[in-house]
Parts: sequence; structure tokens; C-alpha cells
Amino acid sequence: MSNALLQDHAPGLEVCLFPDVREESYIVDSIEGDVPGYIRGHYYLNGPAKFERGDLKYRNWLDGDGMVCCLRFDDGQIRFTNRFVRGRKFQQEEEQGRAVFATFGTRFDGDKMRRGIATESPYNVSVYRYRDALIAFGEQSVPLELNPETLETMGEFDFDRQLNSLSPFSAHPKIDSRSGEFMNFGISFAGRQPLVNYYRFDANGVLACRKRATLDHACSIHDFAVSEHYAVIYLSPYVLDASAMMGEGKSTMDALEWRPELGGTLLVLNRMDGEEVARISIGDRYCLHTINCFEDANRLVLDVIELERPVYDQYQVLPDMFNDVPFGWPVRITMELETRRVVDRQQLDYHGAPDFPAIDPKLETQAYDDFWMLGIGTAGRPGRKFLDTLVHANWNGAIEEYRCPSGCYVGGEPVFIADPHDASGGAVMCQEMDSNGPTSSFVIFRACDVSHGPIARLRLRTPVHFGFHASFYAR
Ligand SMILES: [Fe+2]
Repeated sequence: MSNALLQDHAPGLEVCLFPDVREESYIVDSIEGDVPGYIRGHYYLNGPAKFERGDLKYRNWLDGDGMVCCLRFDDGQIRFTNRFVRGRKFQQEEEQGRAVFATFGTRFDGDKMRRGIATESPYNVSVYRYRDALIAFGEQSVPLELNPETLETMGEFDFDRQLNSLSPFSAHPKIDSRSGEFMNFGISFAGRQPLVNYYRFDANGVLACRKRATLDHACSIHDFAVSEHYAVIYLSPYVLDASAMMGEGKSTMDALEWRPELGGTLLVLNRMDGEEVARISIGDRYCLHTINCFEDANRLVLDVIELERPVYDQYQVLPDMFNDVPFGWPVRITMELETRRVVDRQQLDYHGAPDFPAIDPKLETQAYDDFWMLGIGTAGRPGRKFLDTLVHANWNGAIEEYRCPSGCYVGGEPVFIADPHDASGGAVMCQEMDSNGPTSSFVIFRACDVSHGPIARLRLRTPVHFGFHASFYAR
């Protein structure tokens, strides 16, 4: 479709995407509404914040250097801190005052890659607490450890040298709050045989299992899921041609090809030892993020957001995003492992191109009903748009939502914060940015009444970037 026919459903988005972020730490003094008293602890958010180096402007939302934000809720006081994650890429480019490394979506003359074969991570996807550490993740790279209060980068977090700096390691680990185990996966694209690596660290942080499984295709996989006894990887046929990156100088984005004719596969592993349990065909959709996974008698239930096709190409060319965003739906897939069949599919009736699903973290690996996600209210209409809706959904089919005012957008995975005195209560928090100004806020909703609008708004002194994934740790 020609640009002349495209409408702009995201007025002011360019102002919100590229705020002049500064590294700061201050007490938030502009608070509207009432912050529930039970919110005490640390909230963390990671996302891309710097999109240009010298004369070079990045093309894709995934290219920007990661910056972590922290909100520390103490008795009656909220401290905001933000800081860039200082990986090898960030440090070298700061020192040299120019772009040095290729990114996911941007190549340039003379750009470098890690050992010539992989992009140097901007560490911009997620941030989690694990044992006493705070760790920031990029796509398929060993994470970095940050100081949990100051967010200062302390170095590579290699699990006491149980990983090396080339170990493929996704940005979506699963940390079981019951058992203390940490599980993750990573894709090896190099070599003739693409592989998926499965890792399980026990409650003492010891790498108890590292197991490889072969892949029929070099699939780009971003997330996975675990239940009490299984790990499930939704293998979508989004195939990386690594030779096109090496030989032809293509970006990762341009070396990825959507091949729905190959079909998708659910790879089910034994969570304890990584042994393969089943490979089950699953149609021709794309899965970027999972919602949860749990066992129900002899069945395994996997909840995901399924999209018509991949979405990474909709993150460019900045600041025009989501021009032709694919539709997506929350889908509950029920498998019978004994017969290796999908025995049920439930698709919720939501059409707003959802992403960033989240649940109450204490219900991960368990049966649950409610989840939250962000959506695009104008999905289906051609032209630029952005996330503008916070959605609360229930697997009974009920959906309610909060839609931002015009010119305002939401960001950051909605984080659920439990109310210790009310099992049916709790809050969710995400970002809201107003292009008029621009101004940035963190907004807090009653978890099961988001359509009421925010019950509290924490206005920041200086606008910050839209984040990707967030987490909350109660004190
Ligand atoms: Fe993600």
C-alpha cells in the first residue's frame, strides 16, 4: 500500500519513541490518586532507549540500547532510578562516539559482529531478580548483572562460569518461585545442524541439566514455557538464514524468512532432564510470547499469544510502527502427551494485536484464570499505530480494557502486584506516555477493573523510553 493511503493512528508517536532520556535517581513527587499501601518492593523494567549513534539512526525498535528503570516503593516514598545497561556494545560505542556494531535491524559499512557471527547484545529485553542478583537480558546472550538499587552494570552473569560468553541464552528465563529453579533455552544457529539448548539450574544455582535437541529449521524463538514437569517450546517456522548475514551482509531482520508452509511444532521436554517427550504439529501461526503452562490430569495446557505471522518487521522503519500489524489472539492449546495430539484449542475473541501478556507470577506453572496484556486499538486499519490499550482477560471469555486518550500510549509488560490481604484483589502497573509534553507516567490499576482507569499515576520528571518486559519483587 502506498504511503499516501496510510493513515496515522499514532499522532505524536515520534516524540514518545525518542525521549531525551537521562540517567537519574529521585523521589517521585508528582503522584495523582492513591498508591495502594500493599505495594512495597522493587519494580524493574527494561527496554530500548537510545536509537542513534553519531549520524546513524537505527531502523528497528529492537535495535536500541537497553535502559533499566526501577521504582522502589518504600513506606510512603517512591524512588525512580534509570540507567543504561553497559554491555560491550554500549561501552565501546560511548568511548568512540559512533556506531561500531551491527544491530538486529541495522547494518552499516564497517560494522562489527561478535566474533564475526552474532550481533553484540544491546541488553534491552528483560530484567529479573535471581537469588541475590538483578540480571538484564538481551536476545540469545548471556545476561549482565546489575546493582539492584543503583542499576550499575557489574559484569556478565555467567552463573559462576557455568556458561561462557557464547552460550545461547534467551531473554525469557523461567524462575520457579516454589522450587528456586531457573530454566532457560537458547538457539544455536551456527553450523549445519540448528539446535535448541535447554538449561536447568537447581535451587543452589548449579547447572543441573544442559540438553540439546535438534531443530529441522533454524527457527527464531523468543520465549518458552514451563509447567511442573515439562518445558514447552513453540517452534514457529520463522527461519534465519545465517549465511545471508555473513555472506551478504544482511541484518538479522532481513535474514529472517516467514515460511508458514513448513508448519509449527510444539517441542515438549522433560523439565528435569531435558529429554524430549513429544513433537506435536501446531498449524502455521507465529508465537512470540507464551502466557503460562500447566498440567491438568494427563493433559498439558499451553497458553500463548498466536499471531497470523511474525511482527518484528512491524517494528520498523522507526518511527513508523505497526503499519500492517498482524492480528493475534490469546489461545489455549490442550495437549494429550500420550497420544501426542492437540485435543483442544480455545481462542479468545480479542482483535487488538495483543502482546506482552502477564499473569500473577505466583500462578506460573499452575492453573489460573486472569491475565493482562497490551493491545493496539486500531489494529486492522492500515497506517502507523502503537500500543494504546491495557487489556484484562479471563479464560472464561470475559475481556475488559482501558484505552488511552488520543495521543497517549502504553508500554511495558503489565506487572501484577498481589494484595496480601485480598486474594481476589491486586493491582497491575504499566507505563503511559503522553505525546503532549511529552510526559511519562507509571499507571496503577485495580487488576480486575482496568476499564475504570488508573487509580494512581506516578508522573516522572523526565520522559523515559517505552519498555518491553517488567517484573516486581515484593518486600
Ligand atoms: Fe519478549
